[in-house]
Amino acid sequence: MAAKRKLSVLFVTSEAAPLVKTGGLADVSGSLPGALMAQGAEVRVLMPGYPAVMEGVKAKGRLAALPPMGELPGCQLLAGKLPGGVPLFIVDCPPLYRRPGGPYQDLTGKDWADNDLRFGLLCYVAALLSGANSPISWRPRILHCNDWQSGLAPAYLNFMPGEKARSVMTIHNLAYQGVYPAVTLSRVGLPPSAFAAAGVEYYGNLSFLKGGLHYADHITTVSPNYAREIQREPLGMGLQGLLAHRADRLTGILNGIDTDSWDPESDPYIAKYYNSVRLPVKLENKRALQSRLGLLAADDIPLIGSVGRFTHQKGFDLILQCAQALLELPVQLAVLGSGDAELQDAFQQLARSNPGKVGVQIGYDESLAHQIEAGADIFLMPSRFEPCGLNQMYSQRYGTPPVVHATGGLVDSVIDCTPQSVADKSATGFLFSPMTPEAMLAGVNRALAAWRDKKLWRQLQKNGMARDFSWDASAERYLELYTSLLAEQPA
Ligand code: ADP
Ligand code: GLC
Repeated sequence: MAAKRKLSVLFVTSEAAPLVKTGGLADVSGSLPGALMAQGAEVRVLMPGYPAVMEGVKAKGRLAALPPMGELPGCQLLAGKLPGGVPLFIVDCPPLYRRPGGPYQDLTGKDWADNDLRFGLLCYVAALLSGANSPISWRPRILHCNDWQSGLAPAYLNFMPGEKARSVMTIHNLAYQGVYPAVTLSRVGLPPSAFAAAGVEYYGNLSFLKGGLHYADHITTVSPNYAREIQREPLGMGLQGLLAHRADRLTGILNGIDTDSWDPESDPYIAKYYNSVRLPVKLENKRALQSRLGLLAADDIPLIGSVGRFTHQKGFDLILQCAQALLELPVQLAVLGSGDAELQDAFQQLARSNPGKVGVQIGYDESLAHQIEAGADIFLMPSRFEPCGLNQMYSQRYGTPPVVHATGGLVDSVIDCTPQSVADKSATGFLFSPMTPEAMLAGVNRALAAWRDKKLWRQLQKNGMARDFSWDASAERYLELYTSLLAEQPA
């Protein structure tokens, strides 16, 4: 009886916390599969055997050996477990994955020249495991792909014979599309007929993401607002036509957060635990953060924190443009990030010329990220676009009201402070628009006015801390979606 079969899901990803992380996709891959399992699904995560995965997953069994295909080398399929206990399939292919550096780039920050093969192989294996010719007995009924790195999996699956899984393509970030020259098609062994407007072709090139968006049975993205924004310019980033055309197959499901790793009552990275009834203790985290970043020890100067990748998306340039005006308010700034070299230099320069007022750390630092969430008074996120965003949810949970640009998932997850939302106790932060230095400053000023009103501020903090950002609700939405896809087509 098909209806009684377990809902088996192959969750394909190029990063998963805590093993390999460059951004929010890793947080999602590290927690959504577990939340789906807690609700009864049978999930396997599939990812490449980077050195961090091979070292981080101790016990591994060999499931199958797969022969080469096109220019994709042969590989082994291994089975292990993610640190949280979720079963993991590893694509072990030393010539493609066993090298020092990150998942997408070498140690100098340059994209690997063979990323088409590296992620082509991930997609091919994902599709193979989801079809009738799988080399193993475990079969997913749902193939769930994430971002361009797994975008070709639904394309491969389309050309495979026999019974197969239904596919879901989740967009975490449309800014990265995996576009390669047409010759990639034969390199990764896709049939010539896939190279069409109704296929993987994109202005004469091959696009991994477009392949996924075209061939997947359903598309999701990580917030309802971003699902609407990407159906038009400019946030559709060239794919708005296809996305609008598939609007009845496009759903926004807001991400959750890992409420165990991000919990001010038990966070091992912060100076002092606190919760919504012990909020005054939060001040000790502010003092610890000031001391760690060389900021002046001053309780009465508001401390604004910001953490993220230094890319155009995140709008850190706006903070730089407003820096002098911000510092005159006065506020202190605590910034953690890495990426664009010009932004890194500019922030380091800002810190040098404003000692005691601006604390900057360049690099990736999990502990400082947590300390900023706990120690700052206000969290600033001037993202140009933001499919979902996690930091604003962390900050609400840490009693650090966010000031955010009104875009994407920030609109769905932060409730703007207005007389109405204050009255009904729903206000949790401050939204600003348009994306200009003036509007951002106005947003910060609104937050500072509220900060000076101690009673109002406590209320905002408590409202944010009381919100449920756990994965439960989102996992339920994904399960409903999977179930509805399976109902469309008897297995
Ligand atoms: P994105 O995926 O676009 O980078 P998200 O807000 O979804 O944005 O997720 C970013 C994640 O990466 C968060 O968990 C954030 O704390 C973390 N992060 C980003 N930059 C750094 C950094 N320099 N150090 C530590 N953590 C970081
Ligand atoms: C992306 C987006 C971010 C989102 C994350 C996880 O990297 O930029 O907004 O939260 O994916 O879905």
